[in-house]
Amino acid sequence: MLLHVPEVLSSTELARCRDALASAAWKDGRVTAGRQSAMAKNNGQLAEEDPLSRELGGLVLSALARSPTFFAGALPRRIYPPLFNRYEGGESFGFHVDNAVRYDRSGTESQPVRTDLSATLFLSEPDEYDGGELVIEDSFGSHDVKLPAGDLVLYPGSSLHQVRPVTRGMRIASFFWIQSLVRSEAQRRMLFDLDVSIQQLTQKMPEAPELIRLTGIYHNLLREWSDV
Ligand code: NI
Repeated sequence: MLLHVPEVLSSTELARCRDALASAAWKDGRVTAGRQSAMAKNNGQLAEEDPLSRELGGLVLSALARSPTFFAGALPRRIYPPLFNRYEGGESFGFHVDNAVRYDRSGTESQPVRTDLSATLFLSEPDEYDGGELVIEDSFGSHDVKLPAGDLVLYPGSSLHQVRPVTRGMRIASFFWIQSLVRSEAQRRMLFDLDVSIQQLTQKMPEAPELIRLTGIYHNLLREWSDV
C-alpha cells in the first residue's frame, strides 16, 4: 500500500526545516547505502551525527506523533531517526530495495529496526525542481510520487524504488524507516481499511451499536497480529 499523508508538518515546522537545511553541511549520500545501492546512489545527505539532523529529526517525529493517518497506516513500533537528503544538478538514486534491518545508534544501545515501511517527507515544493520523482514499483505497476512540501508518502520497505534525476532546482526531503507492530503488509492494509471504515461510519452514524463490535474486531485483530 502506498499511503499519502498530507500536511504532516505545520507551516512553521516546514519553514524551520527549510531555513536550517539551506545552510546545512551536506555530505556524500553513499555513507548510508549498502554496497550494492551505493553504486546507484548519487546525492547529498546530512550526517546522522550532525546535531541539525538530530534536531530536525526530532521535529519530524513530534509532527508524526500528531498524525492519526500516519499511525493508522504504519502502526509504528520503532522509527529510525529521520535523515535528510538533497538532490540537485542531475543527481539521482537508481532502482534499489532498502536494507532490511538498520541499526539505530542514536541511543545508548544500538537498536535494530526492521524496515517494514519506508517514508519520504517532501520538503521542497514540486515546482521548485524538475524530475526528482520517487518511483515505486509494486504488483500494480510503477507509481510516480512528487508531493507538496510537508506531505509524506509511506510505502512497503520491500518495494523496488528509485529517485529520478533532478534536472533543475533542488529537491530536499527527509527519509526514514519504520518497524511496524504488524509485520505483514497484507494484514496492515486490512487493519488500515477497517480503521478508516470505522472512522467514516462513526461520522455518519455515531449511534450505530454495530460500531462497538466493529471496533472490537479491529482491536482483536491487532492483538492477534501485533508484536510488541
Ligand atoms: Ni531507498
